Amino acid sequence: MIIKKFSMKFYGEVVELWRKSGISVGSTDTKEELERVVRRTPQLFLVGKIYEKIISVVIGGFDGRRGYVHHLAVDPDYQKKGYGKMIMGELMNKFLELKVHKVHLFIEKYNKEVIEFYRNLGWEIRDDLIMMSYIPDKNLYKMRI
Ligand SMILES: CC(C)(COP(=O)(O)OP(=O)(O)OC[C@H]1O[C@@H](n2cnc3c(N)ncnc32)[C@H](O)[C@@H]1OP(=O)(O)O)[C@@H](O)C(=O)NCCC(=O)NCCS
Repeated sequence: MIIKKFSMKFYGEVVELWRKSGISVGSTDTKEELERVVRRTPQLFLVGKIYEKIISVVIGGFDGRRGYVHHLAVDPDYQKKGYGKMIMGELMNKFLELKVHKVHLFIEKYNKEVIEFYRNLGWEIRDDLIMMSYIPDKNLYKMRI
């Protein structure tokens, strides 16, 4: 698998991959929103290709202090072959280059089985924190594309 920076020309294929892997594609995944991610931190938005097919994707975020991982997915036909570990490894290298001290991610409760994947990569569950969100427009948040 060759890992590359995401480019908008991959948009349709990446959205399909998210859908196929069970990731909810919502209001933050429109072309406009993903263009914004690319402008801000292009080095953290990665895709993995085998020949010309995109089989993995991850969006890294950096707010100037902490790192975040969003929408990691490997095509179900290619799972359990090490590609998830590989693209996460590349993203972690990019975070290290940015000298990020901590990287966070959020797992939806229905998706508990993915916990073991992250544990295997050295991630730990934080039981000293409670996540809260402020959502200015709840209709926008619920939007599915
Ligand atoms: C999570 C996901 C990205 C893992 O990708 P993958 O390519 O299948 O994972 P890998 O093959 O790189 O696995 C790396 C290691 O984790 C282990 N692992 C992977 N999935 C696992 C699971 N569900 N339970 C336990 N261990 C798992 C593998 O056995 C492997 O162990 P090893 O290094 O000892 O061989 C993939 O299952 C996926 O796309 N899931 C659907 C979308 C999703 O839930 N994304 C995360 C949102 S938070």
